[in-house]
Amino acid sequence: MTALTLSTSGAAALRADALVVGIAKGTKGLVAAPGSEAVDQAFDGKFGSVLETLGASGAEGEVTKLPSPAGLKAPVVLAVGLGPLPDKGDAYPAETLRRAAGSAARALSGVKKAAFALPVEAAEDVAAIAEGALLGAYAFTAYQGGEKNAKKGEGPKRPLAEVALLGAKPRDKAHKAAAERAIALTEEINRARDLINTPPNDLTPEAFAAVATAAGKENGIKVQVLDEKALAKGGYGGLLGVGQGSANPPRLVKLAYTHPEAEKTLALVGKGITYDSGGISLKPAGHNETMKCDMSGAAAVFAAVVSAARLGLRVNVTGWLALAENMPSGTATRPGDVLRMYSGKTVEVLNTDAEGRLVLADALTRASEEHPDAIVDVATLTGAMMLALGNRTFGIMANDDAFRTTLHELAEEAGEASWPMPLPADLRKGMDSPTADIANMGERMGGGLVAGLFLKEFVGEGITWAHLDIAGPAFHEGAPYGYTPKGGTGSSVRTLVKLAERAASGDLG
Ligand code: BES
Ligand code: MN
Ligand code: ZN
Repeated sequence: MTALTLSTSGAAALRADALVVGIAKGTKGLVAAPGSEAVDQAFDGKFGSVLETLGASGAEGEVTKLPSPAGLKAPVVLAVGLGPLPDKGDAYPAETLRRAAGSAARALSGVKKAAFALPVEAAEDVAAIAEGALLGAYAFTAYQGGEKNAKKGEGPKRPLAEVALLGAKPRDKAHKAAAERAIALTEEINRARDLINTPPNDLTPEAFAAVATAAGKENGIKVQVLDEKALAKGGYGGLLGVGQGSANPPRLVKLAYTHPEAEKTLALVGKGITYDSGGISLKPAGHNETMKCDMSGAAAVFAAVVSAARLGLRVNVTGWLALAENMPSGTATRPGDVLRMYSGKTVEVLNTDAEGRLVLADALTRASEEHPDAIVDVATLTGAMMLALGNRTFGIMANDDAFRTTLHELAEEAGEASWPMPLPADLRKGMDSPTADIANMGERMGGGLVAGLFLKEFVGEGITWAHLDIAGPAFHEGAPYGYTPKGGTGSSVRTLVKLAERAASGDLG
């Protein structure tokens, strides 16, 4: 895990293996950003033109490494692009700093210590740079270089080990708090990424539940696990129906973080399909290679509850992890089967690949029994949401317009791309079943909204609820960019933690 400290040292004097500075695209060429003054001096005031000669443009994410001239303690300078120069008087946007810090940290894998001298004005900038650096330094290497790793300690490059953040004031309470929050939050996001990236033969529902139990103990969170016997006794037909085809039985995990002075209780529900083969409605080849990511919602909920506990937020946060493996077999649910859900409603399973809504339905009903002030569920629920919003934006649906807007705004503040989506009532009749109360599939058009409408029916009367469909951004298959690695991203954790902080201030509207 990468360590982070705030340093009062000057950029020239700090002992580090590399010094990170920002460069922006001005109208008349490259502009070295605040924080890079000492570097520019060491280059006799020609830092910008040296970089231009090296081909740098200042574009977002661009990284240029060069050996340091005399006068700098760090032997290497890394210039990272910040994109267009902000208008006079404007600060660099937080997300620009977050991504730049991420790109720099990624380019420094294998390095021991780097000093980050990016532009810092407010505590918000400290938070953004710290988050970007700690998320960007992440690498999932647990399964690589097996033979070499075991023998000589050789193997894949280790992440950047240490970040010294310059320009922040360690004695400024707000700066210090921003750095501490960033450390706790990014450690939990990176833990969520590890869970998502762990292959499904190792991360079974039982194994996930064990990780949650251990983390709960460590962080003063009460954890309860319902195993398949308890689920059967409780009548959790959705979880059992999805899990019954697998040799790895389902689990429902409850994580309860409570604060003695809390005024609000927030319930978070996560889809935790540790592997989605589609079941008897088997996914075709080309569609199941990344389906270990189908527990990203549960990983996000888990990370958010632990973050709330580590930050000591004045709010109660309950996390529900609906864990199951969706496999085809002689014991699997068939298309045509009817399940009796935990709520008592019956569901005709027309497509066993629409399994997420079945496990979530049980968890939503169970969460509702405790009358929280609001419920948010998070799920890699539909391919349709990816068709609608692409790979980097999650959809937000809700039974309350104001709550949906709040979540959209909090996501924006957190630097996560999202967009509000409707729940059109006319799509409900597509799920009418001749046999049961509802079918688990409806019209193909608007499939993401149909799934949302299904979930809505399992939320308790009068409870404010929102649904985040993170199927697009949960798992990144392209080349890494900014602080986003290949594989699990930890999508929605930052938004959920913002929501918990909002609830801690007594406001959930
Ligand atoms: N886990 C998938 C959705 C998904 C697809 C997530 C691709 C991430 C990447 C979900 O369980 C699923 O299979 N949904 C079906 C629903 C359909 C059968 C109604 C879908 O979207 O095709
Ligand atoms: Mn599926
Ligand atoms: Zn799924």
